Amino acid sequence: MIEINGLSKTYKGTGRKALDSLCLTVNDGEIFGFLGPNGAGKSTAIKCITGILSFEEGSVKIGGVSMSDDPVGAKKRIGYVPDEHLLYEGLTGRQYIDFISDIYGVSRARRAELTDKYASDFGLKDRLDETISDYSHGMKQKIAVIAALVHEPEVFILDEPMLGLDPKSAYVLKKTMRDYADSGKTVFFSSHILEVVEKICDRVAIIDGGKLIAVCDMQELKEKRSDLSLEQLFLTLTGGEDAFKTEEV
Ligand SMILES: Nc1ncnc2c1ncn2[C@@H]1O[C@H](COP(=O)(O)OP(=O)(O)OP(=O)(O)O)[C@@H](O)[C@H]1O
Ligand SMILES: [Mg+2]
Repeated sequence: MIEINGLSKTYKGTGRKALDSLCLTVNDGEIFGFLGPNGAGKSTAIKCITGILSFEEGSVKIGGVSMSDDPVGAKKRIGYVPDEHLLYEGLTGRQYIDFISDIYGVSRARRAELTDKYASDFGLKDRLDETISDYSHGMKQKIAVIAALVHEPEVFILDEPMLGLDPKSAYVLKKTMRDYADSGKTVFFSSHILEVVEKICDRVAIIDGGKLIAVCDMQELKEKRSDLSLEQLFLTLTGGEDAFKTEEV
């Protein structure tokens, strides 16, 4: 579970709030999509939630553990796939996963089991012993996902995870996210790909200018407003409805 309460963040020297009193709860067992225009504050929020960035106001709790009071305890519960690869490129894929497993204290047997499972799912099994610097963009993304999941975190957070993945890999990642949520864990991710969000999310939040502007239950949206697509909702709420109308003409 992720509990965000009154989170505000201003980057030094900007004089502008990148996040403004953000409140959000993401439950166990759900996939939660985080939407918003470029510069809305999605990556900033994710970096605050994962403890990478400090913030001036508010609180973040991961599985009930406060990021401010017990940062190590909170971070232990998170698996994070950033929007840009921050891997040790001189290591092989397997060495990198081993390194992360050592940090989180994952047993030899469990890491081997999970590495084998996820590498097979992602079609990366026969490339694990190659150096990461020789990997393609998509292969680096897959290693980042495996490294985020190898310690079986309570909360799985991904920033723009579908970027650069081929259709089959994107399908495998979506299935991995669904299975992970179905096992009772929390999955939270940002995306601009509304078709993906519409398909796999239980709930979505839309932010703009650092402020939360809507949270919606996808099932309810489908049942009560079958005439309204997520794209229409997004464009209306973020002031882009004119662009939508132009496209439709
Ligand atoms: N390191 C930084 N220093 C100063 N301002 C920053 C920094 N990183 C982000 N910002 C500002 O914070 C705001 C939110 O940026 P953020 O990267 O969180 O947006 P985003 O929703 O992730 O956008 P995108 O969809 O383009 O990834 C923007 O106004 C951006 O210019
Ligand atoms: Mg971003």
